[in-house]
Amino acid sequence: MKNEKKSESDLMEKIISLCKRRGFIFAGSEIYGGLANAWDFGPLGVELKNNIKKSWWNYFVHQRSDMYGIDAAILMNPKTWEASGHLKGFSDALVECKNCHERFRADMLEKDKEEKYICPSCGKKEFTDAKQFNLMLKTFLGPAEDESHVVYFRPETAQAMFVDFKQVMSSMSPKIPFGIAQIGKSFRNEITPGNFIFRTREFEQMEIEYFISKNSWQDQFEYWLGELKKWMKSIGLDESKIFYYEVPESDRAHYSKRTVDIEFEFPFGRKELYGLAYRGDFDLSSHQKSSGQSMEYFDEKTGEKFIPHVIEPSLGVERTALAILSSAYKEEKLEKDTRVYLDLNINLAPYKAAVFPLMANKPELVNKAKEIYSKIKSAKVAPIAFDDSGNVGKRYRRQDEIGTPYCFTVDFQTLEDGTVTVRDRNTMKQERIASDSIPDFINQKMEF
Ligand code: GAP
Repeated sequence: MKNEKKSESDLMEKIISLCKRRGFIFAGSEIYGGLANAWDFGPLGVELKNNIKKSWWNYFVHQRSDMYGIDAAILMNPKTWEASGHLKGFSDALVECKNCHERFRADMLEKDKEEKYICPSCGKKEFTDAKQFNLMLKTFLGPAEDESHVVYFRPETAQAMFVDFKQVMSSMSPKIPFGIAQIGKSFRNEITPGNFIFRTREFEQMEIEYFISKNSWQDQFEYWLGELKKWMKSIGLDESKIFYYEVPESDRAHYSKRTVDIEFEFPFGRKELYGLAYRGDFDLSSHQKSSGQSMEYFDEKTGEKFIPHVIEPSLGVERTALAILSSAYKEEKLEKDTRVYLDLNINLAPYKAAVFPLMANKPELVNKAKEIYSKIKSAKVAPIAFDDSGNVGKRYRRQDEIGTPYCFTVDFQTLEDGTVTVRDRNTMKQERIASDSIPDFINQKMEF
């Protein structure tokens, strides 16, 4: 058990180290000593992140005819948070260790046999009484720093979908069932952020509010669970590490009749990856009451007027990236050493392919490789890399580590017959193809 735990934390360390070394993710403002739990996505990380968002948007918005995207302002009228209940209820119970004075979220602490909290920092068991701590980040709009100028960084993208419901209805005339989708930053003043990019204070969400009639909620819930499963499969999340947790009534928000947490076996344990919730008509009703504006939908077929109910699939971008990296990280024992590669789905890989000359000290090979690389680039095939540093073996390893699915190598035969070798990242097998067919080769491998 101890060894298992060690290898899990080793895996996390290896993923973090690869992310830093290869330009996926590094500590934010590092030259100033960083900022606690702030992470920056580097040149390859931003590609991975954008590919995740692109895949989500493509699957849930572009491929459907009942979904409407929005991109709302992060700062919203503070009345939003009064109506949604966040000002009153979006809080965690905070306790402080009386010995080392570290603060923790009470629900995250382990307890001893006598149900006493144990401090994870110093091991003592004396804590202050729990205090409710609101997780919304505050700032002031304009130069006056007084209560009347307070605004909040949104803690979820969801509320904009409710607040903009009327605008989408009047501009797009959708018929129920339909959804509003959004990808964007959210902020929470988390008491205990951590586990790399798993829990941060600034993160991105991909959320849908799917508006339905009340009597269809059970079928719709099952349908959305199915859609989430299909999408998770399409991006290559390891299915054996995904679990579905029916949140018991006692732990659900009072307006929710059903919530399923989609959990993932991260290297540091099984934790929430996404949430799927039936929120009833709570949000639209609250905004109707608070704003005095009607949030009713008129059904032309039945002549009925009602406030739609809603199913909400809510996904975090960074958690997706971490689950993808945990699923994709592979070590393979070879005869002489161990090879590390990221088994990324081609749609998510930062580079879809790389082009090399076999030898960097042969100008004829380097020039030919550059010519082929430029041709692929001008064919507007998704990002590809060029590499002529070190020897070819090292270049393969570098591309393996960043998950590039194919490497095309230009050798002396290329100069004679225009063919190149193509090496598969996972099998390391090589075959020869005509260099002119590389764009088609890559396009055929891409799934969207
Ligand atoms: N609108 C519903 C909502 O926001 P949530 O369970 O609080 O529900 C949804 O958040 C998802 O957002 C989570 O499942 C997770 O993927 C992501 N998320 C939430 N808090 C996060 C944090 N502090 N850091 C990174 N991702 C977070």
